[in-house]
Formats: sequence, structure tokens, C-alpha cells
Amino acid sequence: MSKWLEGRVIDNRHWTEALFSLRVEAPRLPFEAGQFVKLALDVEGERVARPFSFVNAPEDPVLEFYGVIVPEGPLSPRLARLAAGGTLYLSPNPSGFLVLSEVPDAETLWLLATGTGLAPFLSILRTETPWRRFRSVVLVHAARFARELVYRDAIEALSRAHGARFRYLTFVSREQAAGSLAGRIPAAIGDGRLEQAAAARLAPETSQVMLCGNPDMLKDAAAALAARGMKKHRRRSPGQITVESFW
Ligand SMILES: Cc1cc2nc3c(=O)[nH]c(=O)nc-3n(C[C@H](O)[C@H](O)[C@H](O)COP(=O)(O)OP(=O)(O)OC[C@H]3O[C@@H](n4cnc5c(N)ncnc54)[C@H](O)[C@@H]3O)c2cc1C
Ligand SMILES: NC(=O)c1ccc[n+]([C@@H]2O[C@H](COP(=O)([O-])OP(=O)(O)OC[C@H]3O[C@@H](n4cnc5c(N)ncnc54)[C@H](OP(=O)(O)O)[C@@H]3O)[C@@H](O)[C@H]2O)c1
Repeated sequence: MSKWLEGRVIDNRHWTEALFSLRVEAPRLPFEAGQFVKLALDVEGERVARPFSFVNAPEDPVLEFYGVIVPEGPLSPRLARLAAGGTLYLSPNPSGFLVLSEVPDAETLWLLATGTGLAPFLSILRTETPWRRFRSVVLVHAARFARELVYRDAIEALSRAHGARFRYLTFVSREQAAGSLAGRIPAAIGDGRLEQAAAARLAPETSQVMLCGNPDMLKDAAAALAARGMKKHRRRSPGQITVESFW
């Protein structure tokens, strides 16, 4: 018997020529918000699988995934071409450590994402846990272009639900964009622009930071946070930084 579960695409929303969100009907998959599952398709007789973070909250019966087309990649362009009624496969075992059960309590939870690294944070923010455990939550999304700042409706709904306890900040790196910070997250940690925009202190005594997306951003941001006395959180050696690299 195959270990793969079969999923049926309900819809495939294209935000830009490269960004898409798949909504999928599949057998129930228990997971913690922030985790991922492998999605797979059969390509020239071989099953090609890649990890994708859940965008939906765990109790939502419809699964959602947010992806970017890597033009030369074997899987992402094919996932992007799936239409309603199409079939994909899911591994039966969600996993991953970018979850609040691995993050200590603090005053402020900072969620810093590049590109599709936004996905697991949306899942986390759609649960009760961050709002029960942290006084305020700052979501930061960095993209190359303003049109790539997706899920605005979902984020506005979070703002309405949580008011001043929730702050949403954006970075746009490759054009000027009103309302967004320019450049990259690590530089803005270093020069204080991120704290200023969030009106919150980014310090070891007050903050837990979760990072997701581009591995170079994770490295550079961890270095900028280390300069402020913050370090990776480990069960045996508590710190303030929890990361997930997408490649
Ligand atoms: C834990 C985990 C969770 C992930 N969750 C997601 C997710 O929710 N959404 C998503 O789109 N991808 C996610 N990825 C990446 C995903 O698994 C694939 O790598 C991606 O979809 C490209 O697949 P591919 O087969 O087309 O190309 P691949 O051969 O897998 O990748 C080729 C190259 O594309 C670049 N790349 C890969 N993924 C991305 C990305 N997300 N953004 C920008 N550049 C990228 C890298 O340079 C990589 O070396 C995740 C990866 C990991 C490890
Ligand atoms: N038409 C298409 O098919 C199409 C279109 C767009 C993208 N793509 C593909 O998508 C992939 C790129 O996706 P993406 O733009 O979501 O991801 P990305 O390259 O990781 O860029 C997302 C954001 O992360 C920033 N970043 C990069 N390195 C960083 C670092 N060291 N520290 C801090 N921030 C950093 C980028 O800034 P910078 O801008 O300064 O690097 C950008 O603002 C590529 O594989 C590309 O081929 C395809």
C-alpha cells in the first residue's frame, strides 16, 4: 500500500505570474501550526516531492499552500499549473520545528519572513496560541516587489481581530513602495529601523523571534540579532531565535 495520501485541488489562485496558492481537499492530517508536509506529483514516471508549509490553521478542513514558481525547478512550475479537480499527493506525516510549542514565552513575538516564508506564520496567526502567550505580535514580510505582498485580506482580518497587539510591517527590496520599508530585514535590525517601525524593542529580555524563508536572510538576520545579544533557541540552551530555511 502506498504511503502517499491523495489530495484534490479545489482552486489555484495566481497572485502574480510567479506566486500561487493551492487549496486542497485531502484526508485529515494532524499538525501543529507552522509545520509542513511534502507535496508530490508524478513527473516522467517518478514521484517528485517537496516540503510545503501549511497556510491554514490545523482545524481548517481545507488545506492551503502558498508557492512560488522556480522556473527551472522540477516541482513548483507543475504545482502552479494544477487546476481545480487536479490531483496531487501528500506525505502522511507533517513535521517541523517552526512551532510555538518550541518557543519560550516573551513580551513580543517577532515573525520575520521573506517570500513564501510567510506561509507558516499565517497558520500560526490563525490559531489562538500567539494571542494567549504574547502581549504583542509583529509580522514582517519582505518581498522583491510590492505586488508580492500577498494575503492582505487575511492580514487585515488579523488586524481587525487583534487591534494594537498586532503589527504588520513590509519590506520591498527592488522598487520604491509607499508604506513599505526599503531594503532588507537584517540591515533594518542593525540600524534600528525595524524597531522604530514596530514601536517595540527587539531585545533578549522582551522578544522571541521566528525566521522563515531565504537561508541567506536567516543567516544575516541571526547575525544582526546576535549583535543585540540574542541567540538560537535550543531546548537545552534557551535563546530567542527559531528558524526554518526553505532551501
Ligand atoms: C521545511 C520547508 C518548507 C517549505 N515550504 C515552502 C512553502 O510553503 N512554499 C514554497 O513555495 N516553498 C516551500 N519550500 C520550498 C519547496 O520545498 C521547494 O523547494 C520549492 O517549491 C521549489 O521546488 P522545485 O522542485 O520547483 O525546485 P527545487 O529544486 O526544490 O529548488 C530549486 C531552487 O529554487 C530556489 N527556491 C526553492 N524554494 C524557494 C522558495 N520558496 N522561494 C524562493 N526560492 C526558492 C532555491 O534556490 C532552490 O535551490 C519549503 C522548503 C522546506 C525545506
Ligand atoms: N516569473 C517567474 O517565474 C518568477 C518571478 C519571480 C521570482 N521567481 C523565482 O522565485 C525565486 C525568488 O523568490 P522570492 O523573490 O520570493 O525570494 P527571495 O529571492 O528570497 O527574495 C525575497 C526577499 O528576500 C530578500 N533577501 C534575499 N537575500 C537576503 C538576505 N541575505 N538577507 C535579507 N533579505 C534577503 C530579497 O531581497 P533582494 O531583492 O535584495 O535580494 C527579497 O526582498 C527565484 O528562484 C526566482 O527564479 C520566478
